[in-house]
Amino acid sequence: MSLLQVDNLTVHYPGQSLPALQQVSLSLAPDELLVALGPSGCGKSTLLNVLAGFIAPSHGTAQFAGQPITGPGAERAVVFQHDGLLPWLDVAGNVAFGLKLQGVPAAKRAAIVADTLQQVGLADASDKRVWQLSGGMRQRVGIARALASQSRVLLMDEPFGALDAFTREQMQQLLLQVWRQSQRGIFLITHDIEEALFLASSLVLMSPGPGRIVQYLRPTFSQRFLAGESVRAIKSDPEFITLREQLLASLSRAQQQEAA
Ligand SMILES: Nc1ncnc2c1ncn2[C@@H]1O[C@H](COP(=O)(O)OP(=O)(O)OP(=O)(O)O)[C@@H](O)[C@H]1O
Ligand SMILES: [Mg+2]
Repeated sequence: MSLLQVDNLTVHYPGQSLPALQQVSLSLAPDELLVALGPSGCGKSTLLNVLAGFIAPSHGTAQFAGQPITGPGAERAVVFQHDGLLPWLDVAGNVAFGLKLQGVPAAKRAAIVADTLQQVGLADASDKRVWQLSGGMRQRVGIARALASQSRVLLMDEPFGALDAFTREQMQQLLLQVWRQSQRGIFLITHDIEEALFLASSLVLMSPGPGRIVQYLRPTFSQRFLAGESVRAIKSDPEFITLREQLLASLSRAQQQEAA
């Protein structure tokens, strides 16, 4: 059964002439990393917000494990573009925050926090304050917090958008390793074609005006990375470059149609 399933989803915000999303259908299997790629305004965050349960569909359905999504739930952890860390807590406190709210006992909480900080390479930073961290470290704390929640799926809205190219690439590799270790479904939004191709086991290309899916792809580059191939070899492979250029062409075509 799909972890997430969206059928004919339309979201029309009040007062807007066009729907933000029109008749969008997709599904996420439990072991998939599904990427939604598209330009600004094509409805990516709207889609994630429906999956997170923050907004309701105008038409169509959104389901988690076969049940309609009616609000936020601990089984669907969200990583926001801006990390949303709590500055008055240290790193461990931020990662433990959701667990504390859920009433997980202190000893178990500490074990989960230590384990997830280890996974994201921040074992030595657990007592640091948020303002002592670099941008990349902050993003990793955000990811650790989502992982610690023991959710079945991670919903990530442009999680690496604010990072420099080098840190971004490191974070992409870390995410793939975390994905393999944690065995969760991931839904990730990006407007970066290279990032989408490298990470996705399944990819939807979206277009604005109204927001819709214009192409479905199943790239295999993340599997090649996890099998040991280097990121540089993958991203300079002619197959990768050809697909990247095709996606770029599809995106510009879709934008020209919107402008026409
Ligand atoms: N709360 C809202 N009320 C009204 N319109 C909204 C609301 N949220 C988003 N929109 C509109 O819906 C469309 C899709 O917005 P959305 O934020 O989903 O796009 P996006 O693909 O995430 O863009 P970006 O890449 O810039 O984050 C846009 O035209 C936006 O102006
Ligand atoms: Mg957005």
